[in-house]
Amino acid sequence: MPDELVPSHGTMEAHDAYNKHAKLQASGAASALPFLEKAAQNVALEPGDRPVVIADYGSSQGKNSLAPMRVAIRALRTRLGRDRPIFVHHVDQASNDFNTLFRVLDTDPDAYTLHEPNVFSCAIGNSFYRRVLPSDYVHLAWSSYAAVWLSRIPALIPDHFVFLRSTGEVRAAFDSQAAKDWEAFLSLRASELRPGGRLVVVLPALDDDGTTGFEDLMDHANAVLMDMTDEGLISPDERARMVIGACPRRKRDLLAPFQRDGQFQRLTVQDCELSVLPDVAWAEYERHGDKDALAMRQALFFRSTFMPSLALALDSTRGAEDRRAFADSLEDGLKRRLADRPEPLHSLVETMVLAKQGSA
Ligand SMILES: C[S@@+](CC[C@H](N)C(=O)[O-])C[C@H]1O[C@@H](n2cnc3c(N)ncnc32)[C@H](O)[C@@H]1O
Repeated sequence: MPDELVPSHGTMEAHDAYNKHAKLQASGAASALPFLEKAAQNVALEPGDRPVVIADYGSSQGKNSLAPMRVAIRALRTRLGRDRPIFVHHVDQASNDFNTLFRVLDTDPDAYTLHEPNVFSCAIGNSFYRRVLPSDYVHLAWSSYAAVWLSRIPALIPDHFVFLRSTGEVRAAFDSQAAKDWEAFLSLRASELRPGGRLVVVLPALDDDGTTGFEDLMDHANAVLMDMTDEGLISPDERARMVIGACPRRKRDLLAPFQRDGQFQRLTVQDCELSVLPDVAWAEYERHGDKDALAMRQALFFRSTFMPSLALALDSTRGAEDRRAFADSLEDGLKRRLADRPEPLHSLVETMVLAKQGSA
């Protein structure tokens, strides 16, 4: 892996940065584990000794996939016994830091293969907006904080970089792209799932008023980018090109494809739950009172998740050092603003469980 920021849309910050700082996503995924366990208990399993297939769509560098995979494997093992092979496929974009993923799978003390000689894993470097696995192949699918990333950015956002702060035609272009991509994601997963298979999708969400809980953080980052433009650290053109391709949806948007006849591409909705995800870092801050520690945690969450998308807008002539300086300045500015005005980051998380019609 070259020593530079990963130049791809929606990819997370490499070299373990995302693994270390994506605690918010980890707690969102943790809130969905009971749904995953139930899905593993209910998935149709054919008799015999063929491998049972799990897919993890949008695994990033793997750390946040370990707990869900362990839960799924443990629940499947109670039905399968110890010997039936289980084959886990981690899917992410080709620009993902797969070196880190493989290291985590091999050496992390929480690796799901520990004490599981018949669990095997592999990774696929391709977009989940394409077919990435054979038809009727996957028994149990998991996707956490990933299908919120669009297949393409439909418009630039005047004076901001997140769709939450867009209006009018720009907002409509994002809503339309988000609706198309959700249907595409579901259709592709429906074809890859086996009859009787289950898909569990966890997503950051919008409430009915269109709020996510991330607004203040995004506004602070936007103010820092403006300061960086005024100071000449980035050019106005680079600033104008900066857009994050993540587009949270409302519960009704997620359910829309199923409204007409109660199913979509042979998928039916088993569960769809919207809940508030309390900010763990804020709860800790209320105990220790250290504003800088809170600001550091929130800024590193932002950096590890969103900074690579913003850095894509930097001029192609800029080298690795410039790109790192951009990321460091953004992080420093964000830390300063967040420490001046400590706020919780209570966000919304949506968990959907889908079943493919048919039996094993
Ligand atoms: C926020 S991370 C989530 C990682 C992990 N699942 C978690 O819960 O922490 C989103 C991941 O989705 C991946 N992703 C975004 N768009 C994708 C696409 N079209 N195909 C495959 N992976 C994609 C990104 O590369 C990134 O690794």
